[in-house]
Amino acid sequence: PRLDLLVLPGDGIGPEVVREGVLLLRELEPSLPAELHIREGAIGGAAVDEVGDPLPADTLSAALSAGAVFLGAVGGPRWENLPAERRPEQGLLRLRKEMRVFANLRPLRLPPELSFLSPLRLEILGEGGLDVLIVRELVGGIYFGEPRGIFVEGGERVAVDTLRYREEEIARVVDVAFRIARTQGKPLASVDKANVLASSRLWREVVEAKRAEYPDVPVRHVLVDAFAMDLVRRPTAYGVVVTENLFGDILSDLGGALVGSLGLLPSASLSEGGPHLYEPVHGSAPDIAGQGIANPAGMLLTVAMFLRHTLAAEDAASAVEAAVFATIARGRVTPDLAEACRRAHASGRCPAPEVLS
Ligand code: NAI
Ligand code: MG
Repeated sequence: PRLDLLVLPGDGIGPEVVREGVLLLRELEPSLPAELHIREGAIGGAAVDEVGDPLPADTLSAALSAGAVFLGAVGGPRWENLPAERRPEQGLLRLRKEMRVFANLRPLRLPPELSFLSPLRLEILGEGGLDVLIVRELVGGIYFGEPRGIFVEGGERVAVDTLRYREEEIARVVDVAFRIARTQGKPLASVDKANVLASSRLWREVVEAKRAEYPDVPVRHVLVDAFAMDLVRRPTAYGVVVTENLFGDILSDLGGALVGSLGLLPSASLSEGGPHLYEPVHGSAPDIAGQGIANPAGMLLTVAMFLRHTLAAEDAASAVEAAVFATIARGRVTPDLAEACRRAHASGRCPAPEVLS
């Protein structure tokens, strides 16, 4: 069968890491269960420059009819002063919303041989390294709820954001998290703020109701503030974590710090029936763009997620992950990991780093 891939390089290091991802896909193609047809589209600042719109209509329609979509990153100082609706980041938000990719999977993984990359002490990471999956609701909640805006009321300005979830919006993302927890044989933690927020109380009820369909999956409810502390103090207590949009945004960046470099983190955003959206977690990194030193690992691990979630090619996915981790463990790293490798080398935990550029 044929699979159409839409590739959206975007801005800054986006095109640099996307190039590496496409090379990997081409390398793997002969052993994959589908023939890949790759085409490119414009998004973000690059699209603003080309056609004045961060999400051009033909990019959107190509995305909606693709078999899967890959994105590099969008944004940068050049476009920071544009009106809100024409900023590059708005193009990505709209793309996610239009593709209805409601379940954003963000694995925080460091195999034990790469524990030295984490700022956490070895005793905390333990024998197994770091292995937590954050499932973030991506197209609802306070980022989209109406009313929203800054209004004048009684002579002063008042800002309003609305945190709103329909029951079904909660149920579908919770279901994805339960399914993955079952497949991986891991416990599920649902993170909320049910002691204060109505939306969290409904969230908790929906999780409780879903439980009946997954009696084999151990479930815990954790308040988001306590969870933030716990994730740093004992990350190994967690397997799959499901949470709403804003909490997930903040917690996955915290999780990123635990892994040691944003450049290592992949993500997959899943829809129901439509194409999935695959992107590394990092942004366009204007500080290092154009130098050929961006870490491609986040993108390569993102390709692995595509192999797993779109192609169900689990063996190929694991092989890619193992290869990425093994390369880093041999000390072949980009500059963002060099310092951690040097320190680990001094204590005999990593070969002398060979810094690639
Ligand atoms: P960023 O993720 O671009 O960079 C943060 C830091 O991490 C920088 O020091 C950067 O050099 C480093 N870094 C990121 N990816 C790396 C990689 N692959 N290899 C080595 N080092 C890497 O976040 P920042 O600086 O806050 O935002 C820069 C621009 O990117 C902004 O315009 C922002 O809006 C946009 N952005 C876009 C995202 C997306 O397209 N999904 C996500 C986050 C930010
Ligand atoms: Mg974020």
